[in-house]
Amino acid sequence: MLCLWALPGHAQNLVTNGTFDSGTSSPWWDYAAEPAVQTVEVLDGRLCSTITEGGEHTWDVILGLSDLGVVAGQHYHIAFSASADAERTIRFKVGLGDVPYTDYFIRNADLTPTPQLFDVTYLNLREDPAAHFQFHIGGSPGSVCVDDIVLEPVAAPAVPEYVSPSLTGHALKDYASTIMIGTAVDTPTFLSSPIHNSILTGEFSSITPANAMKMNIIQPVQGVFDWVDADALLAFAEQNGMEFHGHPLIWHTQAPSWLEDEEFDRDTMIQIMYDHIDALVGRYAGRIPFWDVVNEAIEQTDGVYDYRHTFWYDRIGPDFIDLAFQRAHEADPNAQLVYNDYKIELMGHPKADRVFELVSDMVSRGIPIHQVGLQNHWFITPDGDTADLPDPAMLRANMARYAEIGIGVQVTEFDVRIGRPLDDAKTQAQAWVFGEVLQACIEAPNCNRLTVWGLSDFDSWVPGTFPEYDFAHIFDANFVAKPAYHTMTQVLSALQPDPPPIEGTGGAVGTDTATGTDTGTGAAAAGSEDGDESSSGCSACSVGPAAVRGGASGAFGLLGLLGLLLRRRGRS
Ligand code: XIL
Repeated sequence: MLCLWALPGHAQNLVTNGTFDSGTSSPWWDYAAEPAVQTVEVLDGRLCSTITEGGEHTWDVILGLSDLGVVAGQHYHIAFSASADAERTIRFKVGLGDVPYTDYFIRNADLTPTPQLFDVTYLNLREDPAAHFQFHIGGSPGSVCVDDIVLEPVAAPAVPEYVSPSLTGHALKDYASTIMIGTAVDTPTFLSSPIHNSILTGEFSSITPANAMKMNIIQPVQGVFDWVDADALLAFAEQNGMEFHGHPLIWHTQAPSWLEDEEFDRDTMIQIMYDHIDALVGRYAGRIPFWDVVNEAIEQTDGVYDYRHTFWYDRIGPDFIDLAFQRAHEADPNAQLVYNDYKIELMGHPKADRVFELVSDMVSRGIPIHQVGLQNHWFITPDGDTADLPDPAMLRANMARYAEIGIGVQVTEFDVRIGRPLDDAKTQAQAWVFGEVLQACIEAPNCNRLTVWGLSDFDSWVPGTFPEYDFAHIFDANFVAKPAYHTMTQVLSALQPDPPPIEGTGGAVGTDTATGTDTGTGAAAAGSEDGDESSSGCSACSVGPAAVRGGASGAFGLLGLLGLLLRRRGRS
């Protein structure tokens, strides 16, 4: 029951009764959503819950504290000790207590019967005089005890200077004018881990928000937008000369309940869709060069791949896709518009073929679509089966057929999850996939961006979504580079690296992202007569990232194209 926060040098703890030495639990409260049941008492100076009936989710059983005043732009130190009767994962969060529940910071904690100390610092983005601190403890019966709880404002931690682990002498981002390597980033993690941030800026040239732009977060109440997370990520990208990939505008998952629950008619749904697109694309026009306009709209039903039945499709009809792209194009005519999906990477896969048909049809009708995002979520099963891993020839063929219809491709959400337990053969197979997909993208003239879906196993989305899987990323949970990372840098080393950035430009390729100079110059590069992106469809076929970002107002031209080809040929 160490009184950490009473030591000299510590700012005032916002938590009252964090040690429970008085024998009472007040002002802590407890909550259990039916059918969950918990009994809470102070035992040996610890706050303990016995959950006799679990809930559906971890957040169905909560121990919480209300009315904590937190300040935007302030770092907070969170510490506590916790144990459970058996191994158990709980979550702790600082956030809004009422609907729409908003997490300012949320993290898993793996408990064991021996009390363990948890200790983190996070940067708070929101001003809130009545924030909550909560432990989400209950998807199943069992008992959990917590103690020595601290939430205190502290100075910003120092960001360590980055030394790339690359054995080739070049970080992933050093080839950005040929291929930009990006990563998905979640606000609580990226803002709260100095190591994460130093790898982020040291290795990557682009950011995709993992969740910050999803509709449940950004429009939690109809017509009310919460820009805090998205603005912070974009500002970070701009300050560090990184590109930003908008993700996603129209999707059926992670949607707010006001949208899912009410049976809006077609006209109202179209208006809701337009309002959402106008708000996001309009707000960031000129600053976000790529948008995933429609995400995951095709799926298998009764053995046939066709439109997925979602509230967008069911209430509007199949033209919701055309309408979304047209509206996004109006909101920012210079943005490159992407259809993004999974299992569409390999030619010959029925879903990939169906999406190609969909996109070809859109192109032939002049719908402003410029790129297809090949998500590239692959897996190795727990028993080591690698049958799901991609056939590089089919990946290349798929990329090539999009080039033929004037459509660019990107690898948008690359990861290779591994079924537990981890072993060397699985790690090597994973590294092979990272190398092959990167190589295919480098070789394809219409592919010059590859984004990995999460920087490290520390901040992975995988275990929460696929409980039998983990280890999906190129840095491990201690931020150590894995064989997959080294394979990628090895593949890249056959290319000509970019010249070092000029001091003061701060970026991977030293161009001005803040002014949003992406003008979709591909039409010119691909020799389009009129430069009309929507009808030529070739706005992303043959353009290197630096050319796109340099944005010499539509004039990348033949010299630039020649330069790009020479760079690609620079492979030994
Ligand atoms: C994932 C996020 O990374 C997770 O944090 C979240 O809990 C679920 O969604 N396809 C997509 C991404 O287009 O937006 C998803 O991201 C992964 C699958």
